[in-house]
Parts: sequence; structure tokens; C-alpha cells
Amino acid sequence: MDDPRLRDRGGGRHPGPGAHPPIDHFRLFQRTLPSRIHRCRLAGPGEVLVKVHASTVSAADHRARGRTAPKGLGLMVALALGVFRPRKRVLGMDVAGVVEAVGADVTLFAPGDEVIAMLGGTFGGHAEYVCIPQGGAITAKPRNMSFEEAVALVFGRITAHAFLSRTTVKPGDTVLVNGASGAVGTAAVQLAKELGARVTGVCSGANRDLVTALGADRVIDYTTEDFLTEGQSYDVLMGAMPRSNGRGRASTPAVRCCSSSPT
Ligand SMILES: NC(=O)c1ccc[n+]([C@@H]2O[C@H](COP(=O)([O-])OP(=O)(O)OC[C@H]3O[C@@H](n4cnc5c(N)ncnc54)[C@H](OP(=O)(O)O)[C@@H]3O)[C@@H](O)[C@H]2O)c1
Repeated sequence: MDDPRLRDRGGGRHPGPGAHPPIDHFRLFQRTLPSRIHRCRLAGPGEVLVKVHASTVSAADHRARGRTAPKGLGLMVALALGVFRPRKRVLGMDVAGVVEAVGADVTLFAPGDEVIAMLGGTFGGHAEYVCIPQGGAITAKPRNMSFEEAVALVFGRITAHAFLSRTTVKPGDTVLVNGASGAVGTAAVQLAKELGARVTGVCSGANRDLVTALGADRVIDYTTEDFLTEGQSYDVLMGAMPRSNGRGRASTPAVRCCSSSPT
């Protein structure tokens, strides 16, 4: 390890410093925390220093650890994650926490504020502290939610909102969400219902009740039915499921959104 303050508490085999570890290898690093005064200096002029209370292990972390990239994005992902060694030592795309300190130019946040934030490809949420630009994807945490509940909104909801906002879903439209029980899909079902759509969710039978409770008008169990062959058409079709079905066969794209409505 290049930093002598870091201590490997994970044990197990490792290919050596710098190399990509196997996906089942987990290392917990601990380093001496800077004093409170030094922590306050960690934030740059326009940055917010957040003490992390909750983060997630998302599909993005899985992809980063497994170095699996959607088709056609292999080179880009390799460059972003590191060709020979990991560029991101600490994963975690989103956080919920409390602002510990703010930089000199920060006007939107103050110490003590409870926030949620998306770190995106910067990662780093699986740590005790993270610095985030005040103009980045950071906002107040809903007061009626715990840190754990609030952080679960970030990854899926931002993705679902980004894709649904590229459509013109209006009351009465039919929307199919393929992968309706996942992080992205659960958000998509709720957002589409908010827009007044009639929503069909596709997931395994085990999650039928969950997706129904989120508002889906109809649920298709992909283990027993195939929505592609039932002859039903939809105004908007959103794919929010893994690209591969685990048997090496390509299925629908990871996140796809198409609309028959003019956009
Ligand atoms: N492009 C982007 O910006 C972006 C952002 C976020 C996520 N993504 C991608 O979007 C995908 C979904 O992410 P996520 O975080 O929502 O994943 P997730 O939480 O793991 O959810 C996966 C969903 O897919 C369903 N599913 C699994 N196999 C299926 C099949 N054969 N047919 C239909 N549904 C199936 C699962 O249903 P059951 O659990 O009921 O089996 C679950 O609803 C991932 O591939 C992720 O990499 C892309």
C-alpha cells in the first residue's frame, strides 16, 4: 500500500499493490482522522465536507468492482476505472450525511445541514467523509426520512427521472418498466404514476407485491411471462434491468427509454 497510514483489515488473497483485486476481495482501510480543525480545512473554497451516515452498494459499484461494462463502453469504462490498477480506491456513488464544514465560498449549505448527494463517477461514498462541490448533485435530505431511507432515493431516482424526462408521459399513457423492482425501476414506477400513467411493471414473482404497492396497475413476472410476445403495445417502454440475464445471453439494454409520443 502506498499510504503507510492505511491498514488492510480485510485479509485474504490479493494480487498485490496496485493491481485490480478479485471481485470477492474486500478491504477495509482505516486511517487516523484529522482533528476537527483540520477536517474543516479539508473542504475547498466551493466545497462542502459531509460526514457520511449512509451510502449504497449500487449496480454502478457492482459494475466498477466487476469491471463489467455495457456493450460498446468497454474502453471508456476501462479508462475511467483504470486499465492496470483501480483508479477509484473507494467506491460508493451516493451518500446521505451531515455537513461538517464548508469552504469559504459556500453559501447554500452550513454545518449541521442534513443532505443527500450523488457523487457519480467520482465515487468515494464508502468513506466516513466526502467533499462535494456545492454546485454538484447535493440537496437537503427530506426531514421525514432516515439517512438510510433517503440515500436509497438517490441513484435510482436520478436515473429514472433523467430518462422519463426525455419522454412526454401524460395522464392515461401506458408505461412499461422492465426491471420494476430494482433501484431504478422502483423510482420509475412511482414517477410514472405521479405523471398519471397506467404502469405495467416487470419483475420476478417474489417482488410482485412490492411493485404493486408502489402503484403499478399490472405486474408481469418475467420468469413465467414474456411481455415481448403478448402483443401489447405501450406508449413508453423503459428497460431498467441488467443487460445480461446471467446466462450470458444479452437481454434488453440496461437502461433504455423510448416513447411513441413525439418528444
Ligand atoms: N445508464 C445509467 O446512467 C444507469 C444508471 C443506473 C443504472 N443503470 C443500469 O440499469 C440497470 C438497473 O439498475 P438497478 O440499480 O435498478 O439494478 P437492480 O436494483 O439490481 O434491479 C434490477 C432489476 O432487474 C430485474 N430483472 C432481473 N432479471 C430480469 C429479467 N430477465 N427480465 C426482467 N427484469 C429482470 C430485477 O427484478 P427481480 O429483482 O424481481 O428479479 C430488478 O427489478 C443496471 O444494468 C444498471 O447498470 C444505468
